[in-house]
Amino acid sequence: MKNQFNIGRKMNEHINNKIFETIANAAAELNQETYVIGGFVRDIFLKRPSKDIDIVTLGNGIQLAEKVASKLKPRPKVAVFKNFGTAQLKFRHYEIEFVGARKESYRADSRKPLVETGTLEDDQNRRDFTINALALGLNKHNFGELTDPFNGINDLKQKIIRTPLDPSITFSDDPLRMMRAIRFSTQLGFEIEAKTLQAIAKNRDRIKIVSAERISDELNKIMLSPKPSVGFKLLEETGLLKIVLPELEQMKGVDIVNGIGHKDNFYHTLEVLDRIAPNTSNLWLRWSALLHDIAKPATKKFTEEQGWTFYSHNFVGVKMIPKIFRKLKLPLNEKMKYVQKMVKLHMRPIVLSEDEVTDSAVRRLLFEAGDDIDDLMTLCEADITSKNAEKVSRYMKNFKIVRRKLKEIEEKDAIRNFQPPVSGEFIMETFGLSPSREVGVIKDAIKDAILDGEIRNDFEEAYNFMLKKAAELGLEKQV
Ligand code: CTP
Repeated sequence: MKNQFNIGRKMNEHINNKIFETIANAAAELNQETYVIGGFVRDIFLKRPSKDIDIVTLGNGIQLAEKVASKLKPRPKVAVFKNFGTAQLKFRHYEIEFVGARKESYRADSRKPLVETGTLEDDQNRRDFTINALALGLNKHNFGELTDPFNGINDLKQKIIRTPLDPSITFSDDPLRMMRAIRFSTQLGFEIEAKTLQAIAKNRDRIKIVSAERISDELNKIMLSPKPSVGFKLLEETGLLKIVLPELEQMKGVDIVNGIGHKDNFYHTLEVLDRIAPNTSNLWLRWSALLHDIAKPATKKFTEEQGWTFYSHNFVGVKMIPKIFRKLKLPLNEKMKYVQKMVKLHMRPIVLSEDEVTDSAVRRLLFEAGDDIDDLMTLCEADITSKNAEKVSRYMKNFKIVRRKLKEIEEKDAIRNFQPPVSGEFIMETFGLSPSREVGVIKDAIKDAILDGEIRNDFEEAYNFMLKKAAELGLEKQV
């Protein structure tokens, strides 16, 4: 009890904020016990900034929202979701959701609950994790005081994810929570308690009733965590990965022929993902890291002469991506195209740096990668996971040379967003041609000459080169 009081005092400092006073006053006028609950309270203790506030009231949530809105200046609009009995308003940078305390029970075939009015305790019982069931009073007698029936504070301290009820009930009620458990564990660096983890494995098939959008929301949050491998290992261990992203699961394992094995591409991929995390918060670059070797299982071959090979795994990977993105309801627009480009080109800087790094090879890479060249280099650097220190340092040294040359060449030749210095139309006009194969041949020859460093990327040099090339083809200038 003493502990609770102290925490309550401490909380006062955090929630002694105008908005909470306003909610408390509105609740008092309606004579409704009211609490702030869930993620916002958890995040106060974790000192994580949070903009979503969930308010639970013993009574009508919509009425409370209207009352609060009437007290705020300027008066915010209240969005009412009658079917759910909830209402939402925005105030400053906060998004505040109001709901009446409830008791819920679920049917086996749906995530949509049957809802009945309940007590605060009922409401806390139906929440996903002990750390998300903390409630702070917004009433005269308990303003800022913590109500924590499942000792969620201790789980926060011990860094444990645990369900308030028997985990099988909590997960069966809403199977998305299995993904949420793994996501919180990854985001916060918390451990999932053994019984809770076992229940995820047991109930994994129930994830099939959850929409793809919600699953990929959680995958994206795992992906954006400081160490995403934690989440993917848990997804694999619990059997969820096989259901939500089977292509990744298939990368696991090592084949051995004649005593020769290849690396485990699942763990290699996770290492790449962890290695890229500190260097980018671009979700799609992280997806590129996750999928860069996705076609290795499909292209794997063993021959006596060469051992294990994965020929064209980058190109096959590019073809696999639309199916993966479509199934997960990820965007099929330029974001997917960017991931495809990264997967297609991911070996190029390595191959390039294995040999002498020539200007023309760098120019060609720059031509293909365009503005995404820096991201591609970041991916390639993360892809070097060899345990051989000498090999790693050789690659890294060569990548440095590639980066330097990229810069030099870009300054000199402006290849990054290459526009041909003479256009197809100009070629047609000059030689009196209609659209034809010759036009393409001349245009390509000019581009190749620029990329190979034979001529500079400017009109005059390109023009003279065009005349020379056209003469070889027996074409004469008409104008
Ligand atoms: N909640 C739940 N089961 C879910 C989703 C949410 O019990 N499937 C409850 C939890 O108490 C949670 C609160 O609703 O804290 C708010 O949910 P949400 O805003 O989705 O998550 P947060 O916990 O706030 O965390 P985040 O914003 O990182 O998603």
